[in-house]
Amino acid sequence: MTRIAATCKTKLTFSVVKRNLCCKQLRNFYNTGIHKEASFPTCDYTPSVYKGASYETIIKSRENYVIPSQKPYYKKPLLLHEGRGQWVWDNEGRRYLDMFGGIATISVGYCHPKVVCAMSEQSYKLGHATAVYLHPRYHEYAEKLTSRLPPGLSCVYLTNSGSEATELSIQLARLYTGRNEIISLKNCYHGATAVAAATTAISTYKYPLLLPPGHIHVTNPDVYQGPWGGSNCRDSPVQAGNRICNCAEGKCQAEDNYFKQFQDTYESLVPADGQIAAFIAESIQGVGGTVQYPRGYLKRVQKQVHELGGIFIADEVQTGFGRTGGSFWGFEGHGLNPDIVTMAKGIGNGFPLGAVVTRPEIARALTKAHYFNTYGGNPIGCAVGAAVLDIIEEESLQENALNVGTHILYNLATLIKEFPSIMGDVRGKGLMIGIELVNDSTTREPLPHDEMAQIFEDIKDMGVLFGKGGVKGNVLRLKPPLCVTKEDGDYAVEVLRSALKKHQTNIKC
Ligand SMILES: Cc1ncc(COP(=O)(O)O)c(C=O)c1O
Repeated sequence: MTRIAATCKTKLTFSVVKRNLCCKQLRNFYNTGIHKEASFPTCDYTPSVYKGASYETIIKSRENYVIPSQKPYYKKPLLLHEGRGQWVWDNEGRRYLDMFGGIATISVGYCHPKVVCAMSEQSYKLGHATAVYLHPRYHEYAEKLTSRLPPGLSCVYLTNSGSEATELSIQLARLYTGRNEIISLKNCYHGATAVAAATTAISTYKYPLLLPPGHIHVTNPDVYQGPWGGSNCRDSPVQAGNRICNCAEGKCQAEDNYFKQFQDTYESLVPADGQIAAFIAESIQGVGGTVQYPRGYLKRVQKQVHELGGIFIADEVQTGFGRTGGSFWGFEGHGLNPDIVTMAKGIGNGFPLGAVVTRPEIARALTKAHYFNTYGGNPIGCAVGAAVLDIIEEESLQENALNVGTHILYNLATLIKEFPSIMGDVRGKGLMIGIELVNDSTTREPLPHDEMAQIFEDIKDMGVLFGKGGVKGNVLRLKPPLCVTKEDGDYAVEVLRSALKKHQTNIKC
């Protein structure tokens, strides 16, 4: 893939170009690869030698100075040192293909030169300004961002994170409708702050604390694990193979049944006048394990939500910015016309930036008081956000997500034939992919935690980083930077094959 040469006018004081050359031994290690048969894709970037605090010092510091709720992946947690494109290097100079993209956050590639320049140039000019003053970057960015959305979604509020975007979207919905009830799907994740946590429905992220009231969760329309769904329900190159569909052309029984569940739930839980504030959903559940719904489900729910006086919030924190390949926004894949869109992660390629975009009449509801955050709309964040949008277009990254993602999905589908008892399901769209590992493909019970952890560890030892998700933690998640290549995808699939083979051998012994 061609990289756009950055035209950075500012002389960078930190040297991106002049790197300390690493020692011979390390240099040999960078490009050798760690899978015995498949060849590790090459990378022409040479990172510097890590000269920071020792691994042991950092582990101790983490134990002593960091709130222990944050649990790093892997038996020996990775100490990351540098990143370029789809690659990261650890403190020992070991190179990894990051198929998790910093948790679906690195959209255009680590340290993309155009992002680095945008950040650097803006920090030389004006690194901070709040909403009590005007600054041009905010307005340039707001116009650029809304130009990527359907007409009408024209009012932007920039936030610090996805959780703040969820909080604000719900606040807007409540202020606008004058109602309290928020409906979301079981197995959803929308953030960690109080209202976002109450919206979320994955027990892993629930503390034994009182959460804000007004949240209703409906049956998750999961066509693989749920009670309904079959081989033709979802919008993916790979369908669930556990149940055959007998629906007539243009019909989907699973969609009807899950929609009936939605109606049953609100009929029993929504106040007697039948009015709600909002429904919020991702177009594909991310943290929940790349769960896809029957094709027409969300569109039907949107219609019903509007009839209940509520508004539809599309959480595009993971699915936005071209990740799903076929469309720039995940909701477009469902034919939706949301009233509010929330964004974070890929919007800033790792810079802490989020956004809420809505219609002017809904936005006006926020003028009933003063909603203020210090860092949202920071000039550097706006410059980064604008650069990210340009790069996605200039480098055709949405198209790349579609081509490479579809290629990976087809290859994973063939792997199911080789490992039918453990690879329960492969699903997703573009570069938002999930692989559900099971103990028994008939009952779909999850692979035991220790077996899952070993496979996960083996994949990392062969130079590839995957993510984990799902309420039982048994879904491998692939959400790499949108610049990954088919060669990278082939390597990742080969690595998975080896890890599953090893697992099979260990189980038999
Ligand atoms: C779909 C979705 N919404 C909201 C959030 C919250 O974003 P943040 O972690 O930036 O607060 C996340 C984070 O993983 C997410 O995946």
